[in-house]
Amino acid sequence: MSLFITFEGGEAAGKSTQIRLLRAALERRGLDCIATREPGGSPAAEAMRAVLLDPDLPLAPEAELLLVFAARADHLAATVLPALDRGVIVLCDRFADSTLAYQGFGVQADARTRTLIDELTARLPRQPDLTFVLNVSPGTAAERLRHRGGTTDRYETRDAAFHARVRAGFLAIAAAHPARCVRIDADAPAEAVHDAILSVVSTRTGHKRG
Ligand code: TMP
Repeated sequence: MSLFITFEGGEAAGKSTQIRLLRAALERRGLDCIATREPGGSPAAEAMRAVLLDPDLPLAPEAELLLVFAARADHLAATVLPALDRGVIVLCDRFADSTLAYQGFGVQADARTRTLIDELTARLPRQPDLTFVLNVSPGTAAERLRHRGGTTDRYETRDAAFHARVRAGFLAIAAAHPARCVRIDADAPAEAVHDAILSVVSTRTGHKRG
């Protein structure tokens, strides 16, 4: 069965852990799935990701926005659409909601830019069937990032106010699209978050839980 599921949320919301757990659970049921991510998910889009995330490479806001969509166009064409055509379930770490949250809400884009984001999103050849919005409190996110260590990218280095706007943006997006989006409390332990996600996905795939 083909299903396009996206995972959204601020930094350290636990998206990649949840994608790993869901993929394993679906594969145990004999369902074919792939895990992919944005920006990235195809060779060219991964190269664009490196530019987008490089904190030492100044990038004009318009260039940043168009590069996000350029990466998305290639990712859809090279990875997502062919997989969905084969009947595979696609689990995607971030998609167009991240653009509205970061390049719209986060940077406090003007009305013209927000309209452009909406128009470019509406023109995409495919929208997600289901989106999990993982909502994590700033305290939990900061704690997880401290433990994670390592490098910080262009967005992780932004201030707390930026991340608060991104978080509020995701909540607004979830509220505006209740048929597609499921808001999940991502402060909970990973297993509890996984259970919540799996029970929603199970109703879509027609499987019983467990
Ligand atoms: P990740 O760390 O979850 O892999 O995401 C990479 C970063 O890219 C994250 O800080 C959010 C940012 N991003 C945007 O700003 N706009 C977008 O459209 C996407 C997909 C990601």
